Amino acid sequence: MGTVFQSLGRTLLAGVVLLVLLILATGANVAGNLAWWTFFMRWLHVLSGVLWIGLLWYFNFVQIPSMPKIPDEQKPAISKVIAPEALFWFRWAALATVVTGVLVAGMTGYIGSALALQRPFTAIGIGMWLALVMAFNVWFIIWPNQKKALGIVTVEAAEKAKAARVAMLTSRANTMLSIPMLFCMVAQQNGGL
Ligand code: HEM
Repeated sequence: MGTVFQSLGRTLLAGVVLLVLLILATGANVAGNLAWWTFFMRWLHVLSGVLWIGLLWYFNFVQIPSMPKIPDEQKPAISKVIAPEALFWFRWAALATVVTGVLVAGMTGYIGSALALQRPFTAIGIGMWLALVMAFNVWFIIWPNQKKALGIVTVEAAEKAKAARVAMLTSRANTMLSIPMLFCMVAQQNGGL
């Protein structure tokens, strides 16, 4: 087991193998079953959403509040190593969540009605709009500003400080939006709105 858990890739593969065994053991009706594949896409969607929002909450719950407590000479461990790695998974998970979410809405056939906030798809429609705004923020505000703040793109000190502040405030805005967004995602199936 040690050789599996020493590698993230092998650990994830082990998770997939467990899942396949579970599906085979329970005898789920998979072949040619659109409803099952729509469900499968929903699962992929929740998986990527958890990675995205998990990292957003890591930044806001852990990294940002901890930075002032870290001695200056140790800060590069965060800004040069951990933050760029976390941002990589963060932005691509955001994109994967959008793609899988749009595919779920397409496969269930209500994407237009949901985006137009028509009943009975108002809950998921609001959730989709909130999440789309959040994904826009990730790719077009947080990431470009983080590149300057972390020194991936070289800018003057004043611009670097401004970029760090813009990225932080936008990340906070996304944390705020994540609360009603997730409520709406779950509300659609469960009579929450
Ligand atoms: C633009 C981005 C997104 C789009 C287009 C989208 C779209 C959707 C759609 C169409 C559903 C199915 C609703 C239903 O019929 O019950 C759904 C469900 C869900 N989404 Fe999203 N979503 C997005 C972002 C997110 C994010 C960021 C999360 C965070 C984890 C998330 C978590 C969920 C959850 C937990 C469900 C409920 C699944 C269920 O109850 O079966 N979504 N989303």
